[in-house]
Amino acid sequence: MSSTEQRLQDLRNRKARSEAGGGQARVDAQHNRGKMTARERMEMLLDDGSFQEIDALVEHRCRDFNMDTNVIPGDGVVTGHGTINGREVFAFAQDFTVYGGSLGEMHGLKICKVLDMALKTGRPVIGMNDSGGARIQEGVASLGSYAEIFFRNVRASGVVPQISVIMGPCAGGAVYSPAITDFVIMVDQTAHMFITGPEVIKTVTNEVVSFEDLGGAMTHGSKSGVSHFTASDDESALALARELTDLLPQNNLERPPTKKTSDPIDRKCDVLDTIIPDVATKPYDVLDVIAEILDDGGFLEVQADWAQNIVVGFGHLGSQTVGVVANQPKVLAGCLDIDASDKAARFVRFCDAFNIPLITLEDVPGFLPGTNQEWGGIIRHGAKLLYAYAEATVPKLTVILRKAYGGAYDVMSSKHIRGDYNVAWPTGELAVMGADGAVEIIHKRRIAHARNAEQERARLTEDFNEKFANPYKAAALGYLDDVIEPSETRRRLARALAMLMDKEELRPARKHGNIPL
Ligand code: HXC
Repeated sequence: MSSTEQRLQDLRNRKARSEAGGGQARVDAQHNRGKMTARERMEMLLDDGSFQEIDALVEHRCRDFNMDTNVIPGDGVVTGHGTINGREVFAFAQDFTVYGGSLGEMHGLKICKVLDMALKTGRPVIGMNDSGGARIQEGVASLGSYAEIFFRNVRASGVVPQISVIMGPCAGGAVYSPAITDFVIMVDQTAHMFITGPEVIKTVTNEVVSFEDLGGAMTHGSKSGVSHFTASDDESALALARELTDLLPQNNLERPPTKKTSDPIDRKCDVLDTIIPDVATKPYDVLDVIAEILDDGGFLEVQADWAQNIVVGFGHLGSQTVGVVANQPKVLAGCLDIDASDKAARFVRFCDAFNIPLITLEDVPGFLPGTNQEWGGIIRHGAKLLYAYAEATVPKLTVILRKAYGGAYDVMSSKHIRGDYNVAWPTGELAVMGADGAVEIIHKRRIAHARNAEQERARLTEDFNEKFANPYKAAALGYLDDVIEPSETRRRLARALAMLMDKEELRPARKHGNIPL
């Protein structure tokens, strides 16, 4: 063999060692758990043959605990770039077969390099997490690399989309990288996220809890709101990451991509004319309204199982990517509470950061009353949503379907906090509160002194409803741009969106605002 051939063979051997990861036995163990390997995940995420690896030959430099006898090139994380439906992205996948995917100094710096390149080139980053956390043998060097990643996640926030797919353990401070990224997708049963595990909890608080109950996909998808999507397996988690990436711009200087449709923008939505029940307290499903309005009924709901009194998600209108925020009358009558405010505020801020116009569908009787809410800080949390809408400069379109009561009227993208196009259906009710409550307060004495209190209350309620349970006072003041027939909603919103696409609106220069966290 010539020396050139020898060198070539040497390179191939080194690459092969890197590709073998922790060896066949550990690969089999990974498969037996229903998990793909890091490389299989990378191939599945990206377009066929598009993956270009970076840093396959990086090695750790730990010499303690006999680590120098076990050096695996690549150091437990596969990093690089490739395309998703032809658009360039950066990605990393932790390899559980190498030291349990644990993050040592060099493993962490590989992820940092990908984040730096994504920021430099303005491309999204998708991280596939499957790791035992900080590599114990490397001590503080591994903590240092974690913090380097966190710093870069923060620096990239609002500049390039960041998606975390949790496909195995993600424990301790390691959870903070996904938490800072824009979207967390968790695989049911195999993904777990927690700050302290079941054993520590048992020791400290005597509570007994399983991994799944403590930090599984269902827990974070429905209880904590840490996760945005739950997937049944690795394959569907990666399909979701692709779908999400397809909707988003590559960075904050771009507009989101358009999606061709044959759904006419002037399609009448006749079912909307009768979707609001005659009885004001009767619910309907706002998802039906969303599906009617958007192109081809397509809607990717975000955090579908958490704070279900508000619905947020992405779709297209007249081919444009839009973010939808809608009160859900089916759950808690669509009241805003702490979790709903947090959920919608984060979504609004994401859309604003990435030039995604916002459509708000409003049917809100107000903020949820109760000590739980007050002591939990509904004032602070509700203020986040108000803040997020007020600071957003993307096109903001609002349709009041039914109730728009009290402070919630102001908060939900009202004209006063610079909604660009605000309309109501004829069923809209814009008032300080509902008729029942209002009558009890302003006519308390009158009702008390009436010969027939019930009759008087009913008469006054009807009177109040006639005066205020409609959109025409607000329309007369110009707080609404129009009152529209519900069946016209898709056409009117699509026209308004087209008109607003080149909107420019500035806010005063400042380092950053002080959102009430
Ligand atoms: C080094 C680790 C490791 C770690 C796992 N391994 N975690 N090596 N550092 N943190 C290695 C194991 O030694 C083993 O090596 C292989 O990975 C697989 O681990 P197993 O325990 O056999 O797998 P499993 O039974 O599936 O359990 C997985 C696990 C468990 C739940 C992740 O390994 C575990 O609890 N690990 C420790 C988790 C932890 O406490 N990490 C620190 C968290 S604090 P071999 O050679 O046998 O295959 C933290 C702070 C971050 O991360 C701070 C950021 C600021």
